[in-house]
Amino acid sequence: MKFDLEEEHLILRDTVRDFAEKFIRPIASEIDEKEEFPFENVRRMGEMGFLGIKVSPEYGGAGMDTLAYIILIEELSKVCPSHGVIASVNNSLYAYGLERFGTEEQKERFLKPLVSPETAGSKTGNKINIGAFALTEPHTGSDAASLRSRAVKKGSKYIINGQKVWITNGPVAKYIIFFAQTDPDKGHKGITSFIIDMEREGARVGSKERKLGIRGAWSGEIVLEDYEADESEVLGEEGQGFKIAMEILNDGRIGIGAQALGIAEGAYEEAKEFSKNRFTFGKPIYEHEAVGFTLADMWMRIEAARLLLYKAAYLKDSGKEYYWASSMAKLFASEVAMWVTTKAIQIMGSMGYSRETNSQRLFRDAKVTEIYEGTSEIQRLILLRKLIKS
Ligand code: CAA
Repeated sequence: MKFDLEEEHLILRDTVRDFAEKFIRPIASEIDEKEEFPFENVRRMGEMGFLGIKVSPEYGGAGMDTLAYIILIEELSKVCPSHGVIASVNNSLYAYGLERFGTEEQKERFLKPLVSPETAGSKTGNKINIGAFALTEPHTGSDAASLRSRAVKKGSKYIINGQKVWITNGPVAKYIIFFAQTDPDKGHKGITSFIIDMEREGARVGSKERKLGIRGAWSGEIVLEDYEADESEVLGEEGQGFKIAMEILNDGRIGIGAQALGIAEGAYEEAKEFSKNRFTFGKPIYEHEAVGFTLADMWMRIEAARLLLYKAAYLKDSGKEYYWASSMAKLFASEVAMWVTTKAIQIMGSMGYSRETNSQRLFRDAKVTEIYEGTSEIQRLILLRKLIKS
């Protein structure tokens, strides 16, 4: 077992760090305040290969491993978690699903343009070359198997009707993996996944969500009304959709864990610097135990979250069962992100509460990591089911 990063990971870390400082830091607060989607930077991330970091070069990706993916999302999220989740959704919830379950023809049509440096993140018609994943519906989030969107087969086509909500990247995405019931009597075994072209008749974006955090990453409603999907646009087999959704989320939760890790680090670094420069009772505030010990705890928790994430990456890349490790890492890292951002604000006092600091933004951004891609309660349920079986 070794803990040192390889040369390629160090180079990637420095490259993403430079990118984030140069292009993201200057706009991070503004896109939060104005709820603006960072179109230009998303295209830049595409050019850098950040939108398909783990996808094989055969399909236009950077061909790196899951550890590289964690480093990428962590470094982006340290500065701006909105950029982090935009990249994570394209990498995991879309590209991983396509690469793992798509046919060769689907990978050519639907994967390559959304990850290749020449096209990823660029404008295409009214959309941009970015993907999304549509599982959640107005009446159901955690109980994903009870979704109600419906696809009915007619000849070689499926006619799909349904409404999805909270779809990250949904308002701008060119293609979306969409889950619908093809055989409601079969419960979760009747769910099928489809690749939807958001510029085709029958597909539209509904309202955009108004959120507490990650306000630069747009999430919204996706509505399909008599949308016609060809048989060739089914992802995987008919009836395999629920399993596909779960497998995709196993990968996605590593990305959200990495986002939470980056959030915690961003707030920790800000609070640490503040504590060196702020003096009370004749000394820098880190010399007061209440502050200094909190900083030590922050650092420890961040390190522990990182190790859980790296373990999940190791299990995944060595072909071992990893779903529980991904849930554990996401659960732990998201709670660390909430704890660290809360404490960072407390250390900075009224300054921390001001919209002048990054920590208040990171605090608002942290909350969603305990909710999306499976709430903390769902992660605990997954862990409980696993520990009882083993
Ligand atoms: N990996 C692979 N397969 C899995 C799995 C996993 N993690 N979890 C379940 N399965 C399989 C089971 O093995 C089972 O297979 P069989 O049919 O062969 O028996 C099948 O799926 C059904 O499993 P369960 O009986 O355990 O299903 P359940 O109905 O009890 O639900 C659940 C399980 C874990 C609670 C699941 O519903 C779940 O993960 N819910 C949370 C959904 C979620 O994360 N939503 C977020 C949506 S994305 C998002 O946040 C928006 C965004 O854009 C970022």
